[in-house]
Amino acid sequence: MSEFRDRPQSMSTRSGRPPQATRSAPVSGVRVVFLVGFMGAGKSSVGMALSRRLGWAFEDLDERIQAREQRTIAQIFRQSGEPVFRQVEHEILRSLVGELEACPAKVVALGGGALVQARNAALLKQDGFSIIFLDAPAEELFRRCQQEGLERPLQRELQEFRALYEARRQGYMKATLRIETSGKDVETVAEEAMRSLGLRRSESASS
Ligand code: S3P
Repeated sequence: MSEFRDRPQSMSTRSGRPPQATRSAPVSGVRVVFLVGFMGAGKSSVGMALSRRLGWAFEDLDERIQAREQRTIAQIFRQSGEPVFRQVEHEILRSLVGELEACPAKVVALGGGALVQARNAALLKQDGFSIIFLDAPAEELFRRCQQEGLERPLQRELQEFRALYEARRQGYMKATLRIETSGKDVETVAEEAMRSLGLRRSESASS
């Protein structure tokens, strides 16, 4: 499962539309897909694979936060604390959602704590928005995070990691659908997401 990746490794590589893709019209009324779930769930890697298949734009909320703040997520936590990060996360999600009216088709990966804030969940209750919860056992999520080796301010020890996962799970279950990712690769999960939402693959999608 080393392909799963949840956090931008640089501040400049994961925004925007996939290079050769053209957009296909959504056939199911879904025009924006949000990927949510705990750290290590594969929100970004599945989001990129899904956007490539659909020929839709892709955006990572954490990347937008880093670009606006001109510092990494870890630096924001360290220098300003989690409450400031949550406020910034909310403001940036609000402005992204505001832009989506003019954007016909987009896949958005959210950070692991975004949906569990009620004010953020409220922003996502809109026609045409689908929320996919990517799930896996806490031990597997922890292992994936360790393999990625990225600095995640809330990762800590397995016991604490599991407790936070369990505390948040009810919040994630508010998603439109849940996909179990354990033992699956990124492309399989992206395919399952597309099928479950009744979305069609773009004719020009490369893989
Ligand atoms: C967080 C998860 C991180 C990032 C921040 C807070 C969380 O994103 O938004 O460190 O609260 O679970 P990933 O889920 O992409 O690691």
